[in-house]
Amino acid sequence: MAKQIFGGDWTEEKLNRVGKYLPAYVHVLKDKGLKYAYIDAFAGTGYRELKDTESKVQESQLLLFPELAEQETQKFLDGSARIALQTKPRFHQYIFIEKDRNKALELKKLKTEFPELNKDIIIVNSDANLYLINLCNQGIDYWKTRRAVLFLDPFGMQIPWSTIEAIAQTQAIDLWYLFPLGIAVNRLLTRDGNIQESWQKKLDKIFGTTDWRNIFYAPVEPQNKQLSLFEIENYSQKDKTEKIANFESISRYFVERLKTVFAGVADNPLVLRNSCNNPLYLLCFASANPKVSKTAIKIAQHILKS
Ligand SMILES: C[S@@+](CC[C@H](N)C(=O)[O-])C[C@H]1O[C@@H](n2cnc3c(N)ncnc32)[C@H](O)[C@@H]1O
Repeated sequence: MAKQIFGGDWTEEKLNRVGKYLPAYVHVLKDKGLKYAYIDAFAGTGYRELKDTESKVQESQLLLFPELAEQETQKFLDGSARIALQTKPRFHQYIFIEKDRNKALELKKLKTEFPELNKDIIIVNSDANLYLINLCNQGIDYWKTRRAVLFLDPFGMQIPWSTIEAIAQTQAIDLWYLFPLGIAVNRLLTRDGNIQESWQKKLDKIFGTTDWRNIFYAPVEPQNKQLSLFEIENYSQKDKTEKIANFESISRYFVERLKTVFAGVADNPLVLRNSCNNPLYLLCFASANPKVSKTAIKIAQHILKS
């Protein structure tokens, strides 16, 4: 099976937190007469493979002891889609979006694996942004009686701000977003602020504004840079800024950006780090529904507490 291999402990951490929110969410909504869905916009295959080289059965071993292949399959753990399908009480609908055709085909198998949910599982083989914009723009009447938890779990900077805005405008969606803090955004913010144009555009697109330039960079006078006389004489315009942003300030900035469009945003997003302790992603939560955002934020903040 074309399972996917990604992540270490941080993947588990991410799935644990989002997974904890789902039953709490259903529990709060279950007697409210609303239809509520789980939407996984970067759904993968439904499985994740544990990236643990120590415990992997080597191919050479498999040739000698084919029965070990059985153990190998046990290292496929539940991905977000399978976690959602196992949530009790259940959601009314499950929408799994996946751009990769083969992975979308894998997702279809979940319909047979969960026969009791079969008719309520929708697999969408499409770009997540296109599908979400269309869904979110169904209008106030559509969203009056519907609610959803949406998980955005991209590898990188695939989600433009326009998608985030559309989600917030529904006033009906609770969002878990794995923001690519260290894996992408911080890397594009070069030390000297001399950022190539295509990267600048990417940053504008993910933040939905250009003001990050003034916040993440500050002017530096040549006398503060400990330059030689020669360097001072040749000091050029492009040398006049330096990066003042760090992981913490980028995280705070992004939370503030979310607050400009969502009814409520968790103030304690979780930094997910690799085994060398380097920040990779920021797990954020935001609630679009002004009527219940306080409760949603309270639950999410509790779940996000380290
Ligand atoms: C980090 S993985 C998702 C893992 C999944 N949430 C899980 O826990 O099992 C990201 C997935 O998004 C898919 N993807 C990438 N770009 C996409 C896009 N624009 N729209 C939809 N899916 C996309 C990739 O093929 C990949 O399977």
